[in-house]
Amino acid sequence: MFLFSFPAKASTAIAIFSCLFLLAACSEQNSSESIAKKPTTQKTSEAVITTTTQSISTSTSTSTSTSINSKVPLLEVYKSPTCSCCEKWIDHIDQHGFVSKAHNQHDLSAFKSNKGISPQYRSCHTAVSKDGYVFEGHVPAKFIHQFLANPPANTIGLSVPAMPVGTPGMEVGDRFMPYQVILLNTDGSYDIYAELNSYQEQF
Ligand code: CU
Ligand code: CU
Repeated sequence: MFLFSFPAKASTAIAIFSCLFLLAACSEQNSSESIAKKPTTQKTSEAVITTTTQSISTSTSTSTSTSINSKVPLLEVYKSPTCSCCEKWIDHIDQHGFVSKAHNQHDLSAFKSNKGISPQYRSCHTAVSKDGYVFEGHVPAKFIHQFLANPPANTIGLSVPAMPVGTPGMEVGDRFMPYQVILLNTDGSYDIYAELNSYQEQF
């Protein structure tokens, strides 16, 4: 593992680089697949997102118990059955204003493709809001709240590619690797949504 800090700017290269090392620690994601470039068929993804949104809305109304405040947003989390850092991230969002519902999925890469998440933006798990927005990987709850309060036009959600050490659910002692939360645009490009240079900024 890397004990020294990386410059925050070289995000994509670092994301891919760290991905190769960190994926071994968690999840069954195929790392070679995660760096292979596959074109995203945007029309297909949008159609899938729309469909999924409808089905999630339906399941939300039936699965959310009456004891849960309807104002607490639900995130459906799709992960591999053996992913322990995913469980830790779920604990993080549960403690920071979300209700989560975990789904074990064996073919996560097909799922992510259907959601329009290009391989270079992927991480271990994918969370989906009731409106169909995606939150890929160890995105701090704070930014998910911020995004959902005002979703930018022409975007599908947020991602923290790979699994930077020190993100919620990826704690290793007090180590922290500076990273960026990226905004996933519907056209397959991305913008920087937040830049994190310290552990504390995540909360
Ligand atoms: Cu993870
Ligand atoms: Cu995960």
